[in-house]
Amino acid sequence: MNALSKDNKSVVISAVDLFCGVGGLTYGLHKSGINVAAGIDVDPTCRYAYNKNNEAEFIEQDIREITADDLNDFYPEGHLKLLAGCAPCQPFSSLPKNRRQPAQNDEKWNLLSEFGRLVEEVVPELITFENVPPIRHQNIYLEFLDKLKSLGYKFDSDIVYCPNYGVPQIRRRLVVIASILGKIDPLCETHSPYGHNGLEPYSTVRDTIGNLPNIAAGEKCETDKLHVSPRLLDKNIERIKQSKQGGTWDDWHKDLLAPCHKKASGQTYKSVYGRMKWDEPSPTITTQFHNYGSGRFGHPEQNRALSIREGALLQTFPKDYEFVDHDHPVQILQLGKHIGNAVPVKLATTIGYHIQDHVKDYYHD
Ligand SMILES: C[S@@+](CC[C@H](N)C(=O)[O-])C[C@H]1O[C@@H](n2cnc3c(N)ncnc32)[C@H](O)[C@@H]1O
Repeated sequence: MNALSKDNKSVVISAVDLFCGVGGLTYGLHKSGINVAAGIDVDPTCRYAYNKNNEAEFIEQDIREITADDLNDFYPEGHLKLLAGCAPCQPFSSLPKNRRQPAQNDEKWNLLSEFGRLVEEVVPELITFENVPPIRHQNIYLEFLDKLKSLGYKFDSDIVYCPNYGVPQIRRRLVVIASILGKIDPLCETHSPYGHNGLEPYSTVRDTIGNLPNIAAGEKCETDKLHVSPRLLDKNIERIKQSKQGGTWDDWHKDLLAPCHKKASGQTYKSVYGRMKWDEPSPTITTQFHNYGSGRFGHPEQNRALSIREGALLQTFPKDYEFVDHDHPVQILQLGKHIGNAVPVKLATTIGYHIQDHVKDYYHD
């Protein structure tokens, strides 16, 4: 990325991606033109995909052991520093309404303060942070924002609806972008439901996975081993056959209902065992998107859950993103976790462009 500074020297942004996973955020930032120097993650099973698809170096380490000196070594001399990160969201996602605080003994709980510690020690010019919306009510997050203010950062903190950024998925995420250079504007939406006002129309399930070869539950595509969907029990095959796009288990014959569906409480989770709709964005791709019983993850027409490739495409990873070495088996649970946890590549790309526009405005004003 080159933005001219006042003294006509070029300004380059280099990033380190904390909690980098298989690289959704890294890939998107890089695609926007930001140089990502390194990604750090404690999980060795992320290494293959991260290294194969990104030029950044994968560092297998616990963030709690990373120091300011470690990070500063990754940033090339004279570049603006971007510290990017997406701490694990499990402690904050889907908190029961009667429990506003996640379990304090969840060791992942403190990882956001580790991000804050590194911000304080490195004071990078730019920061971006993504997490699930419920985190915004938590003290640990409010303390993080207080820390940014006390260090002199200006920031924008928004709940973004992913279809507004070209992601074919109704995911909502909290995105924080902070800068020590000056005021940060909110992210600009690029898409709207029908593409009015110069924006593009929402991307849909059909646009994204509609041209993949048909496969059955338990079958693997011959030309793409990631296009594989788990086997279903006979009863679940019957259930999905009777499911309509966007429908619920109300559409099934009563013999197929599980005891929990018949209870009054069963009415509150109607979208499980659902089929998605072709012409809308998909439901949020969770780490369980390959499991028909975990949400509306049934294929719109075929009698199976989403394949691993379909989940990756709905997370806007490119078609050729390589998740597994050619002679290694596809581990559905592990890949589902990596893909469902990722920052959608298109959202990450939008964040990257936004940060660059901010820097250009700063140096050109
Ligand atoms: C939400 S995912 C990040 C997804 C990633 N940003 C992407 O876009 O693909 C959180 C990651 O944090 C990693 N993680 C959890 N605890 C960690 C720790 N103590 N140190 C480093 N990484 C950790 C997990 O292995 C997981 O890959």
